[in-house]
Parts: sequence; C-alpha cells; structure tokens
Amino acid sequence: MSHKVVLIPGDGIGPEVAHAARRILDAAAAPLEWIERHAGIAALQRGFKDVLPQETVDEVEQCGVALKGPCTTPVGGGFSSVNVAMRKRLNLYGAVRPVRSLAGVPTRFEGVDLVVVRENTEGLYAGIENEITRGVVTSLKVATEEACTRIAHFAFRYAVARGRKRVTVFHKANIMKLSDGLMLRCSKTVHDNWYPQIVYDELIIDAACMRLVQDPTRFDVIMMENLYGDVISDLCAGLVGGLGVVPGANIGEHTSVFEAVHGSAPDIAGKGLANPLAIVMSSVMMLNHLAETRGDEACKKAANKVRDAYNRALLDGCKTRDLGGELGTDQFADEIIARF
Ligand code: NAI
Repeated sequence: MSHKVVLIPGDGIGPEVAHAARRILDAAAAPLEWIERHAGIAALQRGFKDVLPQETVDEVEQCGVALKGPCTTPVGGGFSSVNVAMRKRLNLYGAVRPVRSLAGVPTRFEGVDLVVVRENTEGLYAGIENEITRGVVTSLKVATEEACTRIAHFAFRYAVARGRKRVTVFHKANIMKLSDGLMLRCSKTVHDNWYPQIVYDELIIDAACMRLVQDPTRFDVIMMENLYGDVISDLCAGLVGGLGVVPGANIGEHTSVFEAVHGSAPDIAGKGLANPLAIVMSSVMMLNHLAETRGDEACKKAANKVRDAYNRALLDGCKTRDLGGELGTDQFADEIIARF
C-alpha cells in the first residue's frame, strides 16, 4: 500500500528543507507517492495567477494529506497570507505544535514537553480590515460558538488520546470579554460535559507568557485562538532551541497539512544553511497520522526509523548552524540517512 501525499515546497528555504525531508522519507522506505504542487511566490513564478492555485487546493483535498514548506507573505501590503488562506479553504481548524526538549540540544530548560493547540480559522486572522477614513483602521476579531467548541473538543480529544493530563486555555477575556469570553465559555462547557478526567484551567495570556519563560515544564496542552497561537508557538520554539526544531500539523475533518512552525527565512534562503529538522519532524507527525487514520503499520515503522535517526544524529553532535553546529541542510539530512 502506498499513500499519495502532496508536497508543497513553498518559498525561501521551503524547497531546500522540503526536498531534504522527501529524500529522508524515501530513504526510510516510507510508503508514499509524492505529488508536487505549488503555493506562494513559487506558484506565481510557475505561471499561476494566484498564490494559492485551485489545482493545489484540489490535489490536497483529494489526497487528504500534504507536507508543506513555508510560504512568504509580504509585510504591510501585497497579497494576503497563503498559509492562512490554505487553512481556511481546507478548513484545517486545529493546529498542533509539539514543543519538546531534545537530547543533544542544550537550552535553558530541560524536560519541556508541551503542545500548543491553536484555533486556525478565525480570530483576528479572519482578515476583515477596513480603513474607515484616512488614518482610522479597524480589524475585526471573529469568534463563533461553533469554532470555539470545535477547537475545545479537538484539544481535549488530543489530550485524552496522548495520555495528557491538563489543558490550559490562554485568553484575554478580562479585556476582550465577548470574543475571548466565548472561547472560555465553550472550553469550559466542553470540558465539564465530555472530558472531566482532564484537568482544565485558564490563564490570562500576558501572565502565561511570563510563566512560560520562567518554567515551561509546568505546562501540558495549551490551547488558544489564532493570533495568540501564532505568537506563543514561536515563543515556545525559543524555549527548546528555536524555530529549527518545532514541527506542526494543521488538522481538518478530512484533510491535514503538515508544516514546520517557521517561515521562509529569507535571510538564509538559497544558501543551504536552513535546519531541515522542523519539517522532518512534521513529516514524522504526518507518517504517524497516516498510520493512525489508515491503519498502515509501515508508516509507523518509517516514522520511528526517522525519529530514532535524527535523535541519534543530534546526540552524536550533528547540528546545523542555528543549533551551534556547522552542517548545511543536505549534510544534516545525509547524517540522518546514514543512521538508518
Ligand atoms: P522565519 O521563521 O522565516 O524566520 C525567523 C528567524 O528564524 C530568521 O532569522 C530565520 O533565519 C530563522 N529560521 C527560521 N527557520 C529556520 C530554519 N529551519 N533553520 C535555521 N534558521 C531558521 O520568520 P520571519 O522572518 O518572521 O518570516 C519570513 C517569512 O515567512 C514571512 O514572509 C512570513 O510571512 C513567512 N512565514 C510563513 C509561515 C508559514 O508558511 N507557515 C510561518 C511563519 C512565517
């Protein structure tokens, strides 16, 4: 059995790290059939009129699974985020970003093992902005009972499935009483009615940030709306070694897109310096997802093989520059493959 998977290389360092991940998965004999499609500036460069071509969306919908590199979004103008658009068009409502300390990557904290669950479809990222009159702009924050309830179920279901003990909701309902208030109300209702075995708590997000940087080992699953989730994901990455080591998944009812937390890193793009580990870890999440949803043991086996190999490579001191090493993207990929 082989599984059709869409590979979207993306922009900047995207193609470098995405192709390194593909090479590693192929060497691990992962039962995958790759279909390459494009998004972002890479799509425009290939003659598409849209940064998110319909044929890319259709292919992802048809295959049900994609591995995606980062796509560049211009700041303060130009086209809207391809990443946000893809999550909305495919209804990939739940983002999961596991943040763990890695042996061989020394950081300020040991034993960090938390999971950021981010609502992916609304909040301030609904993208409803208006210039009312010159010099006066409004951005609309959207919260619906449906999406808040859906993400709460998602986070608690995830906690139960992974043997996690606690879900903490980060919010600012003291100021945004209606929108964040709705998120809290829905989360509490879902908890009380369906998941009483999990500990539920709430933290105001500014205090939560302070506690995270003081002692992240006290957190388990943390759940929040879209914008907070975006910011907190990068903060948490910084606690365990940076953006080069934090993977992610965007999960919907029928479709899932796996991608690293990091962006297209224009400052190092095209130089072969990027750390491919975050997208490689995302591809391990993808293999585990395929194993769980399609019952294919070969995917589980390949996932374990890749994870064991990158863990050993790190312990042996193989590192890219972001982690204080000397290796380039392809060299690090070679070191992983050499440990199969
Ligand atoms: P970024 O994550 O691309 O880079 C931040 C810093 O981390 C840079 O110094 C970069 O060199 C470093 N970095 C990131 N990934 C790395 C890796 N794998 N190995 C080594 N170093 C790495 O964030 P930035 O600069 O804010 O955004 C750049 C572009 O990426 C923007 O256009 C942004 O919109 C886009 N972006 C796309 C995302 C996605 O496709 N999911 C997510 C975040 C940003």
